[in-house]
Parts: sequence; structure tokens; C-alpha cells
Amino acid sequence: MFQETPAEAWKKRFGQEPPEGMPDLGRLLNHRSVRQYSGEPVPEGVVRGLIGAAQSAATSSNLQLWSVVSVQDRATRERIAEKAENYRHIVECAWFLCFLADLNRIRAAATSAGEAADGLDYVEFEVMAVIDAALAAERLVCAAESIGLGTCYIGALRNDVRAVQEILGLPKGVFGVFGLCVGWPAEDATAEIRPRLRAEQVWFRERYPSGHDFSEYDERMRPFYIEQGMKGEVTWSMRSARRVNGSSKSMTGRDALKPWLEEQGMGLR
Ligand SMILES: Cc1cc2nc3c(=O)[nH]c(=O)nc-3n(C[C@H](O)[C@H](O)[C@H](O)COP(=O)(O)O)c2cc1C
Repeated sequence: MFQETPAEAWKKRFGQEPPEGMPDLGRLLNHRSVRQYSGEPVPEGVVRGLIGAAQSAATSSNLQLWSVVSVQDRATRERIAEKAENYRHIVECAWFLCFLADLNRIRAAATSAGEAADGLDYVEFEVMAVIDAALAAERLVCAAESIGLGTCYIGALRNDVRAVQEILGLPKGVFGVFGLCVGWPAEDATAEIRPRLRAEQVWFRERYPSGHDFSEYDERMRPFYIEQGMKGEVTWSMRSARRVNGSSKSMTGRDALKPWLEEQGMGLR
């Protein structure tokens, strides 16, 4: 599945021909989130390899401030799904991985070395841990996709941080940043390459621009939405605006994150 050549993938992604001299990027342009899985198992050895890829990601000062909890128990997955929009992909994927920003392990290392570890109270370390978790996960995603697996991040793991803490038994200093579904895509999985902003909108030369123009992207997304069974008249800009509206409905529980992190001793200073 998902066998577009890099040139085909580029056209789907950006609606234009690939740049001259583009190297063969393998499957790196072919990413799409997969939410329907075949049910075929993914052997443990494969997952060990994928975790090794994740661990090979760069990590700030080699501190490795992330961990992952795999959840294979169906009842536990149902409990997590219940707190995360009831996504069926959480329950039906072959492996469900919860990526954690982890300041607990490094605190243990510091304590055993006789250091105070009070630097871990700074927001800086929480940011580092979240970055580490994201880099590790994305390297796992790239590795998984390179062998034909599908994945889907689950930011909804943060909808109820207290429940996730309890379900996964997370100690203080450990934060479930997102989940990741991994599995073989179903034959009929509806997972298309999703168009993105063109490079000019994200790659600026020397200085940040004075404004942004979304008209080209809004137009290019329209047929994609229609193909996906979504309303074509609701543009990307409109959808994105709704997503960043700070009403508690659009925040889906994530407005509770800051006080919870502080309670956990993260990002205090
Ligand atoms: C950190 C993160 C959290 C996400 N959370 C969810 C989620 O909770 N549920 C879901 O179905 N997709 C989730 N996604 C997938 C995004 O919706 C998806 O990446 C985006 O729409 C672009 O589509 P594509 O991945 O197919 O290119 C998440 C993606 C990221 C990077």
C-alpha cells in the first residue's frame, strides 16, 4: 500500500512538480495518518527494532528524557480510548504506544549521583523532555512507514492527563505527551496524502515575513476535503481557526494541563 514514488507524493503534497534535483527520498514524503488497521499482528521483534530506531534519535545532551509504555491489554486500551474521543484506532491497532516526557528517570540518576536535580523544576527541562519524546516518536514513525506499517499519533491522550496518569501508573515528573497507534493498514484504509502548505509559507529566507497568505492553500485543500467527505466550503483557515479557539469545547480538557503539570512538579520555574 501507499506506494507513490517521491515525485507522485510531492505532487499530492504540494500540488506541483518536485523541485529540480530532488534526491530520492524513499518513503519520507508518503506519510499519512492511518486510522484503520488490518488486524494482522506486528511481531515483537519488529517493535523492538522500531523502539531501537526511536532511541537512535538525537536527544538533548544525551539525557534521553523520554520513555514509552506499550499497552496491549484490550480493557486498558478501552479505558484510554474512553478518555480520548473514543477513537477505535486506539483499540484496533496492533501496538498502542504512549510516549512520555520523562523527568523521573533523570531525577533518579541525579539523586544517585548526589546532585540536587532542582534544575528539573524549570520549564526548560519539560520542553526538552517533550522535544525528546517527539523526536523519538517521529523516528519510530519513519522507521515503521519504511516497512509499510501505518501509524497515527493520538494527542487526545492529553484530554484527561489525570486518568492517563492513573491508568499507566505514571510517577511524578512523567507526562503522557501523545499516544501512537501502529499497525498494518487495512486494505480499504482511507488514508490519503494530505496536502501541506508550500515551502514559501514555512521556509523563510534570512528574516521572518511581515504577513501570511493562505489563499493558495485554502483553494488546494478544498478538493481534498470534498474527497474525504468533508465540507468543501469550510476552508483550512476556517477549520484551523476553530481548532485554536480557546473555548473549553475546542480545548477538549487540555486546558487542565498547566495546573496538572505544576502539581507534578514540572515547569514550576
Ligand atoms: C502530536 C499529534 C497529535 C495528533 N493527535 C491525533 C488524535 O488525537 N487523533 C487522530 O485521529 N489524529 C491525530 N493526529 C494526526 C493528525 O490529525 C494528522 O497528522 C494531520 O491531520 C495531518 O494528516 P496526515 O498525518 O495524514 O498527514 C495527531 C498528530 C500529531 C502530530
